[in-house]
Amino acid sequence: MSFIRGRFHKSADKLVTEYTASISFDWRLYRHDITGSIAHTKMLAKQGIISGKEAEVIIKGLASIAEEIEQGKFQFNLELEDIHMNIEARLLEKVGEVGGKLHTARSRNDQVALDLRLFTKEAISDTLVKLREFQQALISLAEANKGVVMPGYTHLQPAQPVLLAHHFLAYFEMIQRDIDRFNDCLKRTDVMPLGSGAIAGVAYNIDRDFLARELGFSRISQNSIDAVSDRDFVVEYEAAASLCMMHLSRLAEEIILWSSAEFNFIELDEAYATGSSIMPQKKNPDVAELVRGKAGRVYGKLIALLVTMKALPLSYNRDVQEDKEGLFDTVDTLLSTLEVFTGMIRTLRVKAENTEQAVKRGYILATDLADYLVNKGETFRTAHDIVARLVSYAMDKGKSFGELSLTEYQGFFPLFGEDVYSITVESSIAARDVIGGTAPRQVGKALTRAKDIIEKGKGVPDVQEN
Ligand code: ARG
Repeated sequence: MSFIRGRFHKSADKLVTEYTASISFDWRLYRHDITGSIAHTKMLAKQGIISGKEAEVIIKGLASIAEEIEQGKFQFNLELEDIHMNIEARLLEKVGEVGGKLHTARSRNDQVALDLRLFTKEAISDTLVKLREFQQALISLAEANKGVVMPGYTHLQPAQPVLLAHHFLAYFEMIQRDIDRFNDCLKRTDVMPLGSGAIAGVAYNIDRDFLARELGFSRISQNSIDAVSDRDFVVEYEAAASLCMMHLSRLAEEIILWSSAEFNFIELDEAYATGSSIMPQKKNPDVAELVRGKAGRVYGKLIALLVTMKALPLSYNRDVQEDKEGLFDTVDTLLSTLEVFTGMIRTLRVKAENTEQAVKRGYILATDLADYLVNKGETFRTAHDIVARLVSYAMDKGKSFGELSLTEYQGFFPLFGEDVYSITVESSIAARDVIGGTAPRQVGKALTRAKDIIEKGKGVPDVQEN
């Protein structure tokens, strides 16, 4: 029987108990809850609100409850609604009446806000570690395939030749921004809400700064009504996770395309592919497909929480209990996705012979021909037009640029000379020697910069010198 039903004459309807309880999922907050309670107890003793002896008994009791839970010996009770009351009830059983002092100067409203902030801070730091590992895998893949060329695509049509390393380093940049976003989210999560009580603050001489220090927070909340009711930090985590999953889903999609017989640019390691139950020849990129699919699941949690929070009057409302399952699922999904994706990237093999073959198909050097004419004094627009007609002519003849004679070239523009044949995939790539471009010199610098970022963590300028 719950100890918050003192004013009632009836026990709750069984369905109501089940419907309102959160213990089936918020048990995951037990460590954070106990950590918070221990800090709170120390503070109560330091402030003379309870005695040192009482604090000692309570803290010992809490520590042994943590052990019980860790060893799977703890009996979670649905009737006690949530993790906070499950732990408090057990404390009373273990240490007797003195356990009743723990909840002095505190409410479950500031308690759950604290637990969730501790959980989210931890989730952010786990996420950051995994994002770094993912970046590392991208760097290794780029380095292992340093000289490999491939068609760069726009509209999924071959556009211009690029270095494969340049393509993978594009994802390094995306993940770097994801890292920035999680770090930024951390700033606003790193705020200690205890002392807000149920809504108005507490009527005891507590020391909030002490609590913040004990619990490793860099700031304390400045408005009790806000602190017990907002979950914007959870929304931010889920938004950052959604963006990150969006990035991962784009790479997943490319892995799916590239491992198809039609592209045949990469070979997935067998440990990261699955077979078909009916077609023995199949080697399916299910991991990448699930990454793509799980992006939708993560967006769903973000939207769900935004809708839950929308137009909620201040301050705490039970609606916000709905924040947890979505957050837990988002953290679990993102972390497992990053881990498995990192392994897949580490083990995939690039079929350089095929990307090199693909880059030769089509008229991928058309822009370079136009640039050639610009160097001969034409405006870019006229040059574009001449090359467009040249492409159309070559297509009709079934010839590549290399197969056209100089006379044929000169039929379109008199200043075409022998040097037109020195336009190659390599010269095209080398010519794009601007910061952020695909020239080997620039990609080499980008790789060095990427490695510096990984090694030094922060403090490396985002802008590259030419
Ligand atoms: N299980 C609740 C939640 O997750 C804890 C806070 C309950 N507070 C309350 N006043 N009923 O939000």
